[in-house]
Amino acid sequence: MKFAFSEISIPKRGTIAVAVSAGNTLSATAATLDKQTKGALSSAMKSSRFNGKTGEFLEILAPAELEVSGVLLFGVGNPAELSQTDAENLGGSLVKKLNGSGVQNVTVVLDEIKSAGIKASDAAASVAFGAKLGSYRFQKYKTDTEDSAEPTLARMTVACKGSAAVRKAFTDLDALAEGVFLTRDLVSEPANELYPESFADRCKELTSLGIEVEVLDEAKMKRLGMGALLGVGQGSRRESKLVVMKWNGDTRKNASKKPLAFVGKGVCFDTGGISLKPGAGMEEMKWDMGGAGTVTGLMKALAGRKAKVNVIGVIGLVENMPDGNAQRPGDIVKSMSGQTIEILNTDAEGRLVLADALWYTQEKYKPEFMIDLATLTGAIIVALGHENAGLFSNDDDLSDKLYKAGQVVDEGVWRFPMSANYAKQTKSPIADLQNIGTGGRGAGSIVAAEFLKKFVNDVPWVHLDIAGMAWSKQEKPTVPKGGTGYGVRLLNQFVQDNYEG
Ligand code: BES
Ligand code: MN
Ligand code: ZN
Repeated sequence: MKFAFSEISIPKRGTIAVAVSAGNTLSATAATLDKQTKGALSSAMKSSRFNGKTGEFLEILAPAELEVSGVLLFGVGNPAELSQTDAENLGGSLVKKLNGSGVQNVTVVLDEIKSAGIKASDAAASVAFGAKLGSYRFQKYKTDTEDSAEPTLARMTVACKGSAAVRKAFTDLDALAEGVFLTRDLVSEPANELYPESFADRCKELTSLGIEVEVLDEAKMKRLGMGALLGVGQGSRRESKLVVMKWNGDTRKNASKKPLAFVGKGVCFDTGGISLKPGAGMEEMKWDMGGAGTVTGLMKALAGRKAKVNVIGVIGLVENMPDGNAQRPGDIVKSMSGQTIEILNTDAEGRLVLADALWYTQEKYKPEFMIDLATLTGAIIVALGHENAGLFSNDDDLSDKLYKAGQVVDEGVWRFPMSANYAKQTKSPIADLQNIGTGGRGAGSIVAAEFLKKFVNDVPWVHLDIAGMAWSKQEKPTVPKGGTGYGVRLLNQFVQDNYEG
């Protein structure tokens, strides 16, 4: 879908979408159209439930007096109360509505968007951004175009005052959306197509944006002593990989040498291993690489908008399979940190992958901070559902910054406690650590975070458990079903607000 920006005028073709605020108050352009059509808009509103509330639409087909082929009224409620998220949702809902009607070309006139929280030009850019996010489809594997219900909308022109500024604001948002789309693509790919090596190949494509990509193979990881990560992948026919992506965008003179580091769990498929998962719903474990998907999409977004920061993204890519060579419950592995781990459940594999990925990142890159993302525990879904990611940290400042960024972009995080008493549960009677807690079903997400913390030294660190957020069975205006791309916008906002100024 293509986007264009123009000053306010009434187009000669396609559909025109105009704003109506609560109580059916017509925006200036809507009022002009109403006049030109001898009150067609007013009478259509009168004979319908439409009342100008946010989320309401009213379609009017080709009034004879107009050159356009259709008029769509959209409610904006009280424009003074419109938030950034409302504006994005409006854009996303518009796309859905127009695709439903088979419209190909629309001009959305935003003469009524004077929101309280955000500048008018930002609100207009947010509408376009929301429309772009909502236009996403994963249709690669649909060969029957009729069945795939191909979207019709090919072009959206956003008409508003100061359109040059809006066009400029949209450039960065467009790059951000491309990052979100990459994450959605990766998360939606099935595991026969996306495995450690092919995932690494997708990362290598980012070199065209100026990202440096290094891929560590099993031999290299073995030399580094990454027994925890390698143990998870040893039952798979696919070779495990660790990918390091670097974006050096900070050209400022006194630039800090320390990069910001993002680390992702990339379990391309999680069968549970020898501690096999039940069959029902196992297909969902194709998205157990969601953390790695978010890190990769974030790198694309930051490089795409040429963010003035130095960032590294590290993703641990494995496939957790049962096999004659698979790791057994009771096995003891040695992590790169030197700590030994007794494997009590081969399905608690994400923490083993992250153990070596975090240690490597910290030792090799001495980052400013580390933020890891992982679809780590089913327990986090019990606690938070699909509304927030769980946040675990050794640093209040970093936690607060992430919380704030989450509120801005509507990708929430909620902090959990950590303490020595939980950490005790990770002690093994026979090795340094064990990979599941002693508390049964209690505090599973916290114990997992305590395990990760054993692989973090003094560096400020946050763990985001995104098991409830990476995939959605319900659609929202800006987030279609399937891979959500959660976390890309959160971390982009967090970087932008705190490290680029
Ligand atoms: N990938 C799963 C976590 C998960 C479960 C994500 C359901 C999304 C939906 C993880 O590797 C796992 O299996 N965790 C176990 C840990 C347990 C064995 C301590 C879990 O949550 O059951
Ligand atoms: Mn598992
Ligand atoms: Zn897993």
